[in-house]
Amino acid sequence: MSVIYYNTLVSDNIFTIEGLNGRPSLEGQIEVYGAKNALLPAMAAACLVEGETHLENVPGIADVGQMTRILEGLGAYVTRGEKALTISAKEMGGTVLDSAAAKSLRASILLIGPVLARLGRVTFPHPGGDLIGERPIDLFVRAFESLGATFSSDGNSYVLEAPNGLNGGEIFFRGITVTGTETVMMAATLAKGPVTLKNCAMEPEVIATADLLRGMGARITGDGTPTITISPSALFAPSKPFRIIPDRIEAASFLALGALSAKHLDVTNVEPRHLDAVIDMLNEMGVETSISKDAIAVRAREILKPIRVRTHEYPGFATDAQPPFMVLLTQAEGESVLIESIFDGRLNYTSELVQMGANITLLSPHKAKVIGKTPLKAASINTPDIRAGLAFILAASIAEGTSTVMSANLIDRGYESIEKRLQAVGLSIIRS
Ligand code: EPU
Repeated sequence: MSVIYYNTLVSDNIFTIEGLNGRPSLEGQIEVYGAKNALLPAMAAACLVEGETHLENVPGIADVGQMTRILEGLGAYVTRGEKALTISAKEMGGTVLDSAAAKSLRASILLIGPVLARLGRVTFPHPGGDLIGERPIDLFVRAFESLGATFSSDGNSYVLEAPNGLNGGEIFFRGITVTGTETVMMAATLAKGPVTLKNCAMEPEVIATADLLRGMGARITGDGTPTITISPSALFAPSKPFRIIPDRIEAASFLALGALSAKHLDVTNVEPRHLDAVIDMLNEMGVETSISKDAIAVRAREILKPIRVRTHEYPGFATDAQPPFMVLLTQAEGESVLIESIFDGRLNYTSELVQMGANITLLSPHKAKVIGKTPLKAASINTPDIRAGLAFILAASIAEGTSTVMSANLIDRGYESIEKRLQAVGLSIIRS
């Protein structure tokens, strides 16, 4: 058994999983919760208005706690209810993001647009997060400079200033950035003139953020296409609670689980049209999917076909769904190729799958060759990030023997009570 340490171990953050040893037996329904990557921009958007913003279908994930800490540090109030959050930014006057919390969470960068636009200044550290590769902020800085902000750095933190407000203008994003599109779009709602954003991310979470902003009176068109236009308007607190969309990455992960180890798995509360790329891959591999309005049923197949796939911005195959699908490729008969086009460190975790018996060769940091089908054996694995952590649970579920997945706290960042939901469909997984 191999142990690779990426993070300090915490004693109650270990999952112990009994592998099914290639005998698919999971069965039942598993519900997808609200999307982390739609919730975090919604929490940031709440800072644009003085009244209360109510959010529904809020998942109980650790990242909400970190984002709450940063919001409270700025002077906002956050109240948690049952799957709900209320954010009141009426008295928000702080412009300095809590450094420790902001460094622990890449999504803290989402706050810079709303805080800069509303208060004329924001101070923030280089945002941290997962070990999945380089995550620069050049596209954010260039966009805000185009709207008249000035940028400076003292070596420890960055400052963006626009004391007289942001101007209108046209921005071309040299690279497609999801949180960049979201935070600049949020800031643009308070700009003095119209703003046009080109080469935008088209993810459903960008559309969801625009929907929330429209509920605040913003005039936004083109979200879901490469060009978004934001026209000046007066913002107000949304009158209705805003419902967070289902997490398409969680859905994709559960579908991969079902295709690996279920007799029958009904993945519920999904938005099937957000999963075109995933459904297409499953079907090409020979996995049948039965799709209804808000659920997708799937089951394991004896023989899976290999495929060639490349991660891509939406509507392509999401980089966040790549690790669980890598596990599926290890069970396909023949040679698959997976190209990771978004992050340069996002195939590093595959060394752990190799320790479990997978035949994966990294042809470059961005390209993996997978030869299957290989039985997997139990291992003790430490997770480097949210998505690889979930992939390790999937790998352990089909392995022979008892595996341990450590640093489960990282998985908690994106998946609420994952062990309880997996136990309910028959997986033997306990946290200790
Ligand atoms: N990039 C730059 N310069 C920038 C910004 C980004 O070069 O200023 C590059 C990045 O280095 C990367 C690419 O652009 O190579 C895409 O990064 P993007 O900015 O789109 O990523 P992000 O907005 O920081 C969001 C998700 C990630 C998801 C990526 C890609 C949130 C809160 N996070 O990150 O989710 O992997 O988009 O789809 O929405 C996760 O949930 O586990 C996760 C990592």
